Amino acid sequence: MEGGYPGVGMAQHEVSVRGVPEWIGPERLLDARGWAARVEGETTVYEGARASTEAADVQARLRGLVLDGVFVSVDVRPALSRARVREARLVDARRRRVTTPGFDRAGCRVDDEGRWSLTPAAIALRIGEQARGRPVLDLGCGAGGNSIGFARAGSTVVAVERDAARLLSAQHNARVYGVEDKICFEHGDATAWLSKAQGQLVFVDPPWGKGARSSPQRLDDLPLLLRLHGERGPPGELWAKVPASFDTRTVAPCEREAIFGEAEGDRRFVKFALLRWGAP
Ligand SMILES: C[S@@+](CC[C@H](N)C(=O)[O-])C[C@H]1O[C@@H](n2cnc3c(N)ncnc32)[C@H](O)[C@@H]1O
Repeated sequence: MEGGYPGVGMAQHEVSVRGVPEWIGPERLLDARGWAARVEGETTVYEGARASTEAADVQARLRGLVLDGVFVSVDVRPALSRARVREARLVDARRRRVTTPGFDRAGCRVDDEGRWSLTPAAIALRIGEQARGRPVLDLGCGAGGNSIGFARAGSTVVAVERDAARLLSAQHNARVYGVEDKICFEHGDATAWLSKAQGQLVFVDPPWGKGARSSPQRLDDLPLLLRLHGERGPPGELWAKVPASFDTRTVAPCEREAIFGEAEGDRRFVKFALLRWGAP
């Protein structure tokens, strides 16, 4: 009987999860306790016994997720009741309302598209710190999330954006964070700027388009990245923010990092992946 007596959710289920690549950080997604890893062909399978509430949580969060071009599968035996699955989905949806804030200072301006694609300030700062003060060319800077993160961490930045209104927002937001004098804002096409890069670290956060989180994405799906990456890989140092669903087999070999959120609702959720080519 699911749920068991006397404790609700105490029944044990054998759970196996396939399709979570090592570099994504399975310990964070799965919560490392009590999982056994088994290699099966090119995949690692994670297996463990879980009480029904925990099994339902894993299923609700991970089943059908796309990571690195592969659909994650979650098998639970015996199967969970519909009620348990529904409840876990509700709990997860409620939890997800509390996510890492976009801009964390009052007075910032973001339009709808800018808000949707904004890198949260705390995460942008973390990424900025990895640049260790080197000059950055941010191609497609949007409302300025990443440019501001790099500047706050000590880099000078050239921020290029084709949408004039969004560029003005980025400039305004840089003032809110007190880094406007560290960022040179340029209205124009990113690809024209690539040839002007002079030893800077090039950062790109290309528009992802619809369905990027729920279906595998390839290099062809991100035209701006495709232009910067070229056929054989970028000529210089390039960092790209791509959806977790992005199939890294479609690009030249690179360093890969899964970026998780910091709040209750996204700390076990891969918000995006950061790919790096040509890092010194
Ligand atoms: C995902 S958003 C960037 C978000 C930004 N990293 C942030 O955290 O606020 C991508 C931006 O690239 C811009 N963009 C797309 N293609 C471009 C191009 N060829 N030249 C310049 N900007 C471009 C879009 O207008 C959009 O604002």
